[in-house]
Amino acid sequence: MKIVSVVGARPNFVKISPLLAEMRRHPDVCSLLVNTGQHYDANMADQFFQELQIPQADVSLEVGSGSHAYQTAEVMRRLEPVLDRLRPDALVVVGDVNSTLAATVTAVKLRIPVAHVEAGLRSFDRAMPEEINRLLTDAISDYLFVTEEGARQNLLREGVADDKIFFVGNVMIDSLERYRSSWEHSRIRAQLGLPESAYGVVTLHRPSNVDDPIVLGDLLKALSEVARQLPVVFPCHPRTRTRIAQLNGSVSGLELRSDRADTPGLCCVDPLGYLDFMALVASARIVFTDSGGLQEEAAVLGVPCLTLRENTERPVTVTHGTNRVVGTSPARIVQEAIRVLQTPAPSPSRPPLWDGNASERIVAILRDRLRRVPGLTGDGQRNHT
Ligand code: UD1
Repeated sequence: MKIVSVVGARPNFVKISPLLAEMRRHPDVCSLLVNTGQHYDANMADQFFQELQIPQADVSLEVGSGSHAYQTAEVMRRLEPVLDRLRPDALVVVGDVNSTLAATVTAVKLRIPVAHVEAGLRSFDRAMPEEINRLLTDAISDYLFVTEEGARQNLLREGVADDKIFFVGNVMIDSLERYRSSWEHSRIRAQLGLPESAYGVVTLHRPSNVDDPIVLGDLLKALSEVARQLPVVFPCHPRTRTRIAQLNGSVSGLELRSDRADTPGLCCVDPLGYLDFMALVASARIVFTDSGGLQEEAAVLGVPCLTLRENTERPVTVTHGTNRVVGTSPARIVQEAIRVLQTPAPSPSRPPLWDGNASERIVAILRDRLRRVPGLTGDGQRNHT
């Protein structure tokens, strides 16, 4: 059976790596990879391919940055002839980025079945571009692989048939476990001059947090305040780096550093590769983030996580993990951080099935289901009907 996987943005790379490795173990699966090029900087893409042993893409669409409509449309326009030529038996998409939605719509209209990995998550906030991507992708996908029970409930409420939904665990945690012995050897903490278990890590890149200068300024002030208590390191997404530069020193009381983190103040560094970033998070005392994946990784690593948003689409990280959704009010962020720092560090916590074997389950289900499709020829010919 021929399976095409589509990736484009940084979190996609972390999710697809264990799936591709698992597909390679099965001689009956011909696995091909398309990279849309939504993320293209060496430290946002190439480094992840190398560290996570992702084979070079069979097809690169080189779409790059742009508005939502531009990026989505460009992926569709460039992907359509590729899928028409390859005619796979199934398309695999992961997560909730623009490339995920664009690839799904393109494949479904060519009558290629779509498997969505990390389906059913809902923030119930339609101002979030990813929420739109999630809703639309799930509405038309054929196989919906979910990371938590709540996601199944969301899908059932939206009218998705129960027999299309599979609770399999979390491929992000597969990568974390698969590369544990590699990231445990990272020297990033020493390179940045950070004391073991006595520093914080920040990531921020949601448009709602970084595109408005007032919101961003308030968040940076709150984090600077925390950075008076312990070093805080901030690997900075390019979108956020641009926005911080545009603040032009207009935020008073903000101390931003960019070399070593062992003096007071927020230390902004370039985006880190996967291995260094996991190592940095694993030894942190506290994490501040608006990313989805980091809420999950912090839970399994037993690191308290303050989510700087009004909601999370990953509630299991709160009920079974170390996550607390604290919003974006500076006073609340500082208060919650102090509370965490005065409380003993929690133990690592694993939501159900987050055991490092999600990819194995997904590929087993896909192989089983695709084998049952009448007239499967291995080159997707049935899709011409
Ligand atoms: C995208 C995803 C988001 C995901 C995030 C992970 C969508 C709607 N958003 O957000 O869900 O959490 O990726 O990082 O798909 N840029 C570079 N170099 C790059 C990539 C981007 O400089 O390699 C800059 C460009 O100025 C670009 C901006 O970052 O315009 C935003 O990139 P984009 O892919 O549009 O969205 P992200 O904020 O990265």
